[in-house]
Formats: sequence, structure tokens, C-alpha cells
Amino acid sequence: MESRVSQTPGRTVVVLAAGEGKRMKSATPKILHPLLGRTLLGHVLTAAGSARAEQTIVVVGHRAELVEAHLVAIAPAAVPVLQAQQKGTGHAVRMALEAVPEATGTVVVLNGDVPLLRPETVASLVEAHESGAHGATVLAAEVDDPTGLGRIVRDAGGGLERIVEERDASAEVRRISEINAGIYAFDIASLRSALSKLSTDNDQGEEYLTDVFGLLAAGGDPVGVFVAPDAVETLGCNDRVELARLRALLRDRVNEAWMRAGVSILDPATTWIDVTVTLSPDAQIDQNSQLLGATSVGAGAVVGPDTTLIDTTVAEGAVVLRTHSIGAEIGPDATVGPFSFLRPGTRLARKAKVGGFVETKNAELGEGAKVPHLSYVGDAAIGAKANIGAGTIFANYDGVNKHFTTVGDAAFVGSDTVLIAPVEVGPGAYVAAGSAIQKDVPAGNLGVTRAAQRNVEGWTQRRRPGTVSAAAAERAAAAAERAASRTGDIAADPGPDGAS
Ligand code: UD1
Ligand code: CA
Repeated sequence: MESRVSQTPGRTVVVLAAGEGKRMKSATPKILHPLLGRTLLGHVLTAAGSARAEQTIVVVGHRAELVEAHLVAIAPAAVPVLQAQQKGTGHAVRMALEAVPEATGTVVVLNGDVPLLRPETVASLVEAHESGAHGATVLAAEVDDPTGLGRIVRDAGGGLERIVEERDASAEVRRISEINAGIYAFDIASLRSALSKLSTDNDQGEEYLTDVFGLLAAGGDPVGVFVAPDAVETLGCNDRVELARLRALLRDRVNEAWMRAGVSILDPATTWIDVTVTLSPDAQIDQNSQLLGATSVGAGAVVGPDTTLIDTTVAEGAVVLRTHSIGAEIGPDATVGPFSFLRPGTRLARKAKVGGFVETKNAELGEGAKVPHLSYVGDAAIGAKANIGAGTIFANYDGVNKHFTTVGDAAFVGSDTVLIAPVEVGPGAYVAAGSAIQKDVPAGNLGVTRAAQRNVEGWTQRRRPGTVSAAAAERAAAAAERAASRTGDIAADPGPDGAS
């Protein structure tokens, strides 16, 4: 086996995520609640990434199986460590360190519920800690309302003396507005030694990680305070009201960054963009739109108003109006909407059009192909420049299996057609309006299945006498008689008759 030179200094990240988060009143652990594209835990792990640690430990406890499954999905390299009973943040870190007896260097500890934390801030905290050769460094913030948080108590020289939890604090300490964000860097040897000395002599009878600071300071180990450049980053989340506040703050941060990068956002207050979305300069997002998951929008494309895109790619110059889309690829200069529903596997080539009240699923539209009105297109490939008339249904499901339909280039399908899959309409073929197509229509043929039309003369006056319809028919008959014009030719050839 090749020997590996260990990085100096070694770093370990520990994320505390064993608590339930009681005030969320949720079956889902607090740290698994979503916030613009990631869970709270996902945001914290992303921020912690800037510490470039060799190992990341996540302390799990409440509903550990759910948290572990989530870790497999988002951070498979992270190691879950079980803290079966939540005996305090100090106890949690002690459990974590027992799992890495060989670790050296710096330990970065983060509460799992501080999702607005920026990676740059974690990096700066670690830098301040390591360059100052501290035993421990806490991320602090000046806040307007410190209620419920641990307070930073400084000594006469302005150095950190200890951290005091609000419930254990005197009235005087409670007036301190500098708080502990729950994010720290430690020298691992100092931390291990202090953790072994923690007591549970406090209001909650728990081992407090925060007591490590008082212990180290009293023992003459240098401890540091790194004040967060923006207190908003340190906001925790305890209930759904706070979660909604954090969401709005993160929305504003994301929107501002995109606007500064050249994206037009017409109404930032009603535009919700997941942190996982990518946008190009000169994209425009109109009012009341949500861009979620792995969505991207190209240059000059317009999305919205009133549009939700999930895992959807919008290429440059496309227009997507009042649409709900999941798992679709919208090509360059394509147009979609209003009131369209694009489902997974929808792929629109350049300049393709999906119009009003159209639903698509696993459907490919070639360049310039059009489905302008009121249609369902499922499991289909539509060729370039084909036109699908209003109200066409691709009947893909026989009650047991799904089948595929192919429509060739520049084919023309008349309105109110049912294409009963599996079936193929060839290139340049026409389908007469109102047909139920079950057999292939070869290239250049006209497919027609409807019965010849029969008109029953005088029916309304005989069968619906006294109605407004009968009166209208009578007036028309009188007018026709006066004009001595012909009536009621029966067309032999129905013709294609599609809507455009
Ligand atoms: C903690 C700090 C407080 C700080 C605040 C910032 C302590 C004693 N206090 O208080 O000074 O101002 O965070 O938000 O640390 N957890 C475990 N196992 C446990 C207990 C907690 O994993 O046994 C996890 C929780 O899931 C949570 C984090 O640790 O992610 C913080 O725990 P919490 O109970 O919320 O601590 P606070 O009372 O908020
Ligand atoms: Ca908390």
C-alpha cells in the first residue's frame, strides 16, 4: 500500500445533528427540513466543505435512519456516529471524537441548524483559529435579540472568558448581545482534554460543549472569538416561523447574487430560486416563479410569470410562460405555455412549440415542431416541423402497458385526433381531423377514419319545435328561399381540416 503524507494541519469536521428539534412539531428531524434546494444539514455540510477536512462526522440520534439515508444521498463520504441519547452538545462531540482516535490538528464543529452560514466564513474562522494557535475559537455575532442563545462573556482585556447559556445566565449576562453561533474550531488535543472534564452541573443537566471555552481559558490555553462579518449567517432555526424567515433571507441572497451576475429578476420578492439552480446572463425571470432543483436557464430566455421549473433545462432564447415543468429539456428559442404541463422526458428541440393547455411526458419534439393547443403527448417522438392539431391525444396507455407513437417530419395531424399507440404517422403524412388512428399512416398518405357525414333535413324544426334553434333555422330557411340558394351538399372527401 502506498504511504500517504498526511496534510498539515489535519482537519476533522463534526456536525451536530442528533437533536429532534421539538419546536418544529414535525415527524421529520429539524435538520432534514428543506430550504431552497438543500436540507438544513445539506447547507451546513456545504459551508463546512471550505474547511477541506479529511473526514466529516455527523452526529446522529433522533430518527438516525432518516438522517443516515440522507447522508448517503448527499454526502456519502460523511461518517454518521450515533449518539443514542442526547446528553448535550459536549457529549455529542465526545462521541464523535471517539470514532476518530487518530485524528490530529483542527476540529471544526457546526450545529446542524445554521443553514445561512457561508463557506467563506468557515474558512476565515479556521484561518483565524490556526494562525492564532488557539486551543479553541468560537464564531460569535452581535445581534439585536439574543434571546435563547449562549452569550460571549469577555474578560477585562476583551478576551473570551467563558460562554454562558441563557438559562444559566445572570440578568447582567443576559444583557450581553454578543452570542455564540454554535460554530467552532478547536485544537483536537485541547478539545479532548477539556471534554473529559465537562460537568453536567447546569440547568439542563447536560454536557455543554460551550463549557470547553471556560475550561481552556482558565487553564491558560489561548481561546479566540471570531466575529461573523454578517450576523444573518449565524441565525439558527428552531421552529417553522424561523425557517420561513431564513428562507426569505436566503431567497434575497440568491436573487441578489443572480441579479449582480446579469440576470433580470422582475420581482425578487416572489421569485424563489434554489441554490442548486444555474442561470445565464440576460436570462429574465418574471413574477411569481420558482426555479427548483437542477434547473438551468440560458441567456436571453424568459421564464414566467407564474412558472414552476423543477429539474428543467431552458436553453437560450426560449420563452416559458405560466408553465409547470419537471424533468424537461426546453431547446433554444422554443416556446412553452401558457398553462402547459411538461413532465419528465419531455425534450423540445430548437424553435419547437408547446402551446396552451398541453401536457407532455417522455415526448420529443423535433426542430420547429408544434403542439399548439389542448393536447396530451405521451411516449412520442414528433419530427421536425410537424404540426399537431388542437385537441390531439396520444393514447399511450392500454390499461396495462405504455406504447410509443412516432410522427414523422412535417407530418400534419388534424384537430381532435386520437393516435392509438403503438402507431406511426410517416413523414409528410396527413391525418384527417377527428380520426382515431390505430394503423400506421405511410409517408405522404392521408389517414382518415371518421364516418361520412349525413345531414337530416329539417330535423330541428320537426324535433325541437318552439326552441330558439328552431326559430333560427326557420329564419335561415326563409332567407335561403328568398336568395334561392342551394342547401346541404355532402362532402365526399372530408379533407384534413386541422387547426393552426
Ligand atoms: C447551542 C449552544 C448555544 C448557542 C446555540 C446556537 C450549547 C450548550 N449551547 O444551544 O450557546 O448559542 O447553540 O444555536 O452548545 N445536539 C446533538 N446532541 C445533543 C444536543 C444537541 O447532536 O445531545 C445538536 C442539535 O441537534 C443541534 C445542535 O446540537 O443541531 C445544537 O443543539 P441545541 O439543543 O439546538 O443547542 P442550543 O440550545 O440551541
Ligand atoms: Ca438551537
